[in-house]
Amino acid sequence: MFSRSALRAAAPGTPLVAPVRVTPIPVLSGKAPMGYGRRYISVYGYTQAKALMYSKYGEPKDVLRLHKHSISAPHATQVNLRLMTAPMNPADVNQIQGVYPSKPPFQSALGNTEPAAVAGNEGAFEVLSTGAGVKNLTKGDWVIMKRTGLGTWRTHAQLDESQLIKIENKDGLTPLQVGTVSVNPVTAYRMIRDFCAWDMMRTGEEWLIQNGANSGVGRAAIQLGREWGIKTLNVVRQRSTPEETEVLKQELKALGATAVVTEEEMLTGGFRDMVHEFTRQGREPIRLALNCVGGKNATALAKTLAPDSHMVTYGAMSKQPVALPSGLLIFKNLSFNGFWVSKWGDKNPELKENTIKDVLQLTRAGKFQDIPVDDVKWNWDSEGPELAESVQGTLGGYRSGKGVFTFTGGDE
Ligand SMILES: NC(=O)c1ccc[n+]([C@@H]2O[C@H](COP(=O)([O-])OP(=O)(O)OC[C@H]3O[C@@H](n4cnc5c(N)ncnc54)[C@H](OP(=O)(O)O)[C@@H]3O)[C@@H](O)[C@H]2O)c1
Repeated sequence: MFSRSALRAAAPGTPLVAPVRVTPIPVLSGKAPMGYGRRYISVYGYTQAKALMYSKYGEPKDVLRLHKHSISAPHATQVNLRLMTAPMNPADVNQIQGVYPSKPPFQSALGNTEPAAVAGNEGAFEVLSTGAGVKNLTKGDWVIMKRTGLGTWRTHAQLDESQLIKIENKDGLTPLQVGTVSVNPVTAYRMIRDFCAWDMMRTGEEWLIQNGANSGVGRAAIQLGREWGIKTLNVVRQRSTPEETEVLKQELKALGATAVVTEEEMLTGGFRDMVHEFTRQGREPIRLALNCVGGKNATALAKTLAPDSHMVTYGAMSKQPVALPSGLLIFKNLSFNGFWVSKWGDKNPELKENTIKDVLQLTRAGKFQDIPVDDVKWNWDSEGPELAESVQGTLGGYRSGKGVFTFTGGDE
């Protein structure tokens, strides 16, 4: 079990921002590599790249532009990378809208005339080439970004080695699994481990409750709960037919959910009795609530908690504030916290890497299933508006899967 004090003791990270040398786009060599239609590395060693960037805040379809530029051969500790997979997370869209607390600075480092930021915060990249001073990476390695805010929605990037985490053993892993490990699974993992002192003597007899249970974080929490002997009571929104709702419930149960209820069931009178039954008349306490919705939904979660338990708020999908009856604070001594993985990861870089390793180990062992995705292929001919449109639905709700960019263009 990780204690809060152990977390506080972890050394803060000081990642560097690598300068990127940008040049006008050079002449392409005519030779096509095996398996790809065209070659995008010039005779002078420059790699052509495209990045989805924004120079003002707004809706993704209105402000995202595909910017074409070239990247020089890496020198010193620089590493040239090619995108494999990058997800579209709700926070990415909030960032583009300008309503997220962390705002990547608008810069002109990629030869763009108007200062802009590259969108996206998470993704898996393959190493194409390394500068002479790079110690731990070689061509063909898979990496993820050490921290958020570096911009992942781009075909290629040139970053400093210090900004990257190497995937030590990529055998048995897919780009999707690696490209979606650092935000959602880490968030679920840390919230479950760091806010509640689970009673090891009662493995299998304690519960967590969560809303947004079909989200990336929610699915991770279900599987980690199953792995660690914590029962999960999962709240999802009702689908358009009872059959579809049942399919979703069964999907989460197949991941290891102990019980799944709809928000509508939770907000009706019978929910108290349901919880009583699930928890063997309260003998199995609900010790932790994970809230990414807010509003009445969050209040209902809090009411199920046993005395001295914890609620962690990490999202606000309903855009409604969290309102709490005073009695929960006074008579039940509940604790309410927030969690933000970006900030936590910046303060605890080693623990973040270890958490990622742990999740990837579970993935290799077949104990951590892929999230459902809506795969958006990004190749050299993909147009900016088409890519930006695919980002637009990210906050829409009732989606069949998380949007992910898969880069299918080539180079070497
Ligand atoms: N604090 C952190 O460090 C941190 C880290 C990761 C994620 N998050 C937050 O966690 C939440 C989930 O992220 P994710 O990437 O896991 O999401 P995701 O896989 O994209 O899924 C989105 C989830 O939000 C639900 N949802 C959408 N609109 C809703 C609404 N109006 N009311 C209630 N639920 C709604 C969806 O339910 P339906 O299928 O019913 O639409 C789905 O469960 C987001 O708020 C995100 O910002 C926070």
